[in-house]
Amino acid sequence: MVKVLTISNFKGGVGKSTTNVLFSYLLATNKNKKVLLIDFDPQSNSSEIIAKTFPNHIVEPKLSFFEGLKKTDLTQSITKFTGNLDMLVADWKLVGLPDMLEDYKRDERRFFLRELLKPIKDNYDYILIDTPPTLSDYTNNAILASDWVIAVLQTQEQAYSSTLKFIAYLQDLAEESNSNFDLLGVIQYLVKINGKVDEEIINDAQKNLGVALFHYNIFQRERVKRFGRSGITNNDLWDKRVLYMYEQVLDEAILRMED
Ligand SMILES: Nc1ncnc2c1ncn2[C@@H]1O[C@H](COP(=O)(O)OP(=O)(O)OP(=O)(O)O)[C@@H](O)[C@H]1O
Ligand SMILES: [Mg+2]
Repeated sequence: MVKVLTISNFKGGVGKSTTNVLFSYLLATNKNKKVLLIDFDPQSNSSEIIAKTFPNHIVEPKLSFFEGLKKTDLTQSITKFTGNLDMLVADWKLVGLPDMLEDYKRDERRFFLRELLKPIKDNYDYILIDTPPTLSDYTNNAILASDWVIAVLQTQEQAYSSTLKFIAYLQDLAEESNSNFDLLGVIQYLVKINGKVDEEIINDAQKNLGVALFHYNIFQRERVKRFGRSGITNNDLWDKRVLYMYEQVLDEAILRMED
């Protein structure tokens, strides 16, 4: 059974795209899973990183992601980067989505992506959806197409309050839309080990979020920034350490889904 997963938060720059990209990479390469990564963000950060990582993709799509959305058929919009990793690649034209959805009724509008995934989702073990940092058609569609949502919590004050708001929003949306996605948990992205702010936020988060908090954390690492600039590599010790850090968190996510 395919698992559809949105890794998100309304706060910008907290590591959403990086986590989506590294999870997709690890699932496809290390775990031999069939993965579809959906870049549902016109900024197209995750598309850029994957394109740099796999510059010689296997199959180019006939239509762009946005053209596929307009035709209500995504089958012609899939880029095959490796035998295991497919992607719906974003570009800036995706900013037209809210206007395009204007003619649809409320529920058609927010379940739009979920309907379009139906014919293709069974080709995959995992579908991951990257979103912009906004309460928007992109995020609503991603969440309502998902089985699971992960929130990324970066340890800075505004990011923490955004995460609480994001979780409250998920609860409202789940009740009001009669949908059956669940919060898989909150991954902490620790900016500075032993930093005072980090510590305070970790304490607050433990009190308020309890078991929702992932046991394994992500730490700030220079190598991750380099992945962002030049694609993911798995050559030297620093690459392997960073990949291992993300793989531990991914393994915990898989365990949580199985529970
Ligand atoms: N573990 C990490 N260590 C160091 N830098 C990181 C790490 N994770 C992410 N970054 C860097 O932080 C910046 C923001 O990350 P990313 O693009 O993943 O965030 P985002 O939440 O998707 O942002 P946006 O809200 O704009 O979509 C990027 O420059 C990225 O390389
Ligand atoms: Mg992003």
